[in-house]
Amino acid sequence: MKRVLVVYYSQSGDVRNALEALTAPLQAPDVEISWLRIDTTPPYSFPWGPREFFDCMPESLNGEPPPLAPVGLDQGERFDLIILGWQVWFLSPSLPIQAFLTASEAEVLRGVRVVSVTCCRQMWQRAYARVRALIARAGGRHTDSIVLTHQGGSLAGYITAPLLMITGRRAKRALLPAAGVARGDIDALGRVGKRLLETRDRWAEPEPTPLLSDVAPVNLNVGSLLPEAAVVPPMEAIARLARRCGRPGSLARQPVIGLFVLMLVTWLPVVLLASALLTPVARVVFARRLNRYVRGLRP
Ligand SMILES: Cc1cc2nc3c(=O)[nH]c(=O)nc-3n(C[C@H](O)[C@H](O)[C@H](O)COP(=O)(O)O)c2cc1C
Repeated sequence: MKRVLVVYYSQSGDVRNALEALTAPLQAPDVEISWLRIDTTPPYSFPWGPREFFDCMPESLNGEPPPLAPVGLDQGERFDLIILGWQVWFLSPSLPIQAFLTASEAEVLRGVRVVSVTCCRQMWQRAYARVRALIARAGGRHTDSIVLTHQGGSLAGYITAPLLMITGRRAKRALLPAAGVARGDIDALGRVGKRLLETRDRWAEPEPTPLLSDVAPVNLNVGSLLPEAAVVPPMEAIARLARRCGRPGSLARQPVIGLFVLMLVTWLPVVLLASALLTPVARVVFARRLNRYVRGLRP
């Protein structure tokens, strides 16, 4: 019997839907799947209030998650494969996922192959490096990664993603596409799940090597690397300043959070537009800067 643990957090359902599509082909007599939805104490609400939404930026970037809520994992339980479903919050792994990966419960990852499934708007590369480093620190063997981005491109996602977070509605509006990951991209994971099933005899191999690189390659995307490289330094500076001013929810840091919102509505659209127009030449013009940024992403 092969034992699979699916550990995840999901708010709007993107990650949960992706995991269901990926694991559907794993329903086999010799495969046992356990599901573990993690959370924090206190939990984050969905839909978000605008203030709570922006207020979790400093802790997301600084790597300061709240405590993990108790999980129903038996100590010493062992699995052949762990599938980790996570999402990006402010260029970082979401705080519940950070809470899990830094808690003693992450011991379940030690020595086990980890396949990760990420859903996000577009900007995932910094968060991806962080999650890889956290999995490695917990002793997990991260061999494969599936990255799903929202439908409609980065400019549309810049509007549809926050609307989804604050209203909880993903339906198409006016000229905008529907929010979140497209159903077709989620359904396509069935093929990846089938490959996972076919390779089950390799899950627990002592020196695990990738199983999915040809069916689910992870490509660094210059179109979203450029805006990331441009917004990370000011965001990290604002996150540090906000922490110095106060704890989550405190009034004292609200002016700094306001500064962050101002940056999002002024600087980020300029950067997104510029990189959408410049992507074809950016690879050449910013080659050195991008290479430096990508080198820095490696754990
Ligand atoms: C607080 C917060 C911050 C986010 N920041 C980013 C971000 O920096 N980059 C990105 O690509 N997506 C970002 N997103 C979008 C989510 O990663 C995306 O909507 C994902 O599909 C959510 O999956 P879920 O609904 O299963 O939780 C953010 C979402 C939230 C709630």
